[in-house]
Amino acid sequence: MRIAIIGQGYVGLTIAVGAAGAGHKVFGFDVNKELVNQLNSATSHIEGISDAELKNFLSNNTYTASTEASSVNGCEVIVIAVPTPLTESREPDLSFVHAAVELIQNNVKTPTLIINESTSYPGTLRKEIAARITGVTHLYASSPERVDPGNTQWGTKNTPRLIGGLTPEAVSKAKEFYLSFCDTVIEVSSPEVAEAAKIFENTFRQVNIALVNEFAQIADALGISGREVLDAAATKPYGFMEFNPGPGVGGHCIPVDPTYLAYVANEVGVPATFIKRANEVNLAQPAYVVKRVIAGAGGSVRGKSVVVVGVSYKANIADTRETPATSVIDLLREAGAAVSWHDPLVGSWRGENSADLGTFDVAVVVTKHDVVSVTDIKKSSFVFDCTGSIPGADGI
Ligand SMILES: NC(=O)c1ccc[n+]([C@@H]2O[C@H](COP(=O)([O-])OP(=O)(O)OC[C@H]3O[C@@H](n4cnc5c(N)ncnc54)[C@H](O)[C@@H]3O)[C@@H](O)[C@H]2O)c1
Repeated sequence: MRIAIIGQGYVGLTIAVGAAGAGHKVFGFDVNKELVNQLNSATSHIEGISDAELKNFLSNNTYTASTEASSVNGCEVIVIAVPTPLTESREPDLSFVHAAVELIQNNVKTPTLIINESTSYPGTLRKEIAARITGVTHLYASSPERVDPGNTQWGTKNTPRLIGGLTPEAVSKAKEFYLSFCDTVIEVSSPEVAEAAKIFENTFRQVNIALVNEFAQIADALGISGREVLDAAATKPYGFMEFNPGPGVGGHCIPVDPTYLAYVANEVGVPATFIKRANEVNLAQPAYVVKRVIAGAGGSVRGKSVVVVGVSYKANIADTRETPATSVIDLLREAGAAVSWHDPLVGSWRGENSADLGTFDVAVVVTKHDVVSVTDIKKSSFVFDCTGSIPGADGI
């Protein structure tokens, strides 16, 4: 099939490579010219997709990146994989989805299967995509992406995929497309069910992470190890699922998607109290970390050299979106510390470069990448670990 994928970020490029691997002819459309040039010269920006893999698809003509709007015309399938962030006032921002819709409206002249993979609230496919496209009768399906960047066990092929469509024909064609590169496709009765399932999955994570973050504070105040308690609880073979405490949540999903659910809940008059409280707990976690760091460093960090280790939001990936490292660093600076950060995967961020690990007064481990040496972290006089991966260190 001829496939166009709108957006070549984490999700779009992952699907592009999956589809190209199945022998489809894939056009990866993106508004970012620099990214498109980079992709066309076989440089991947995503962990898990190698330059060699990209080069192979480019040279056998199964993949091309493009900024040309006309590249989306004449395809059998168009996949929308654009950002769905929050506005300044923390409300759903569908402007990228609407821009993709406009692109389709202006350029696609023949009936096509249009699939939305961008995460959004139930009703998005029907009201924000299909209802805005006139003139050509397309097929519409929703298949929310579940990619977990950096996860080597679960990828596009073996992660079951949900599909809900506006018509049986849309579902059937979407199934045919996804089954060409995914092992399991699960059909649900409507796009709204698929959309809601995706945001509920991430809300489940957000709420449980907030719960263990709060529990870690309770355990510390009780003078016991929260992590040991959680490990002990996890020996129960049923009815318990282990989540780990940390410095807060980051990335494009967990801090964002639940707010999409809270938004529609509010529209229909149901208070989403768990989401609101979980956001509060997770957003307050950097302040708790800094409070513990100050206590552990003898009551003050004023004038002390502090290195924050790992500024991406999760281990072994370079994504800094919504990372709690931002607040940890800012709060440490407000407390008078001289803060540098070390993250070989990120390299440069917020106009600063990654510092070498050396003998700092304090090291605060926010994210622990495999390539970062524990021995180097331990060169600092006091280590505070938010990840549970530095043996013997104080932390959460
Ligand atoms: N990153 C994840 O782990 C993940 C997992 C599951 C679902 N999602 C969801 O998938 C969607 C995409 O997320 P992502 O992480 O791939 O984002 P991303 O920021 O990595 O990539 C989005 C890409 O879309 C491009 N873009 C923006 N507007 C565009 C337009 N009008 N036309 C063409 N391209 C455009 C951007 O330049 C960017 O390259 C979001 O809804 C997100 O919530 C993300």
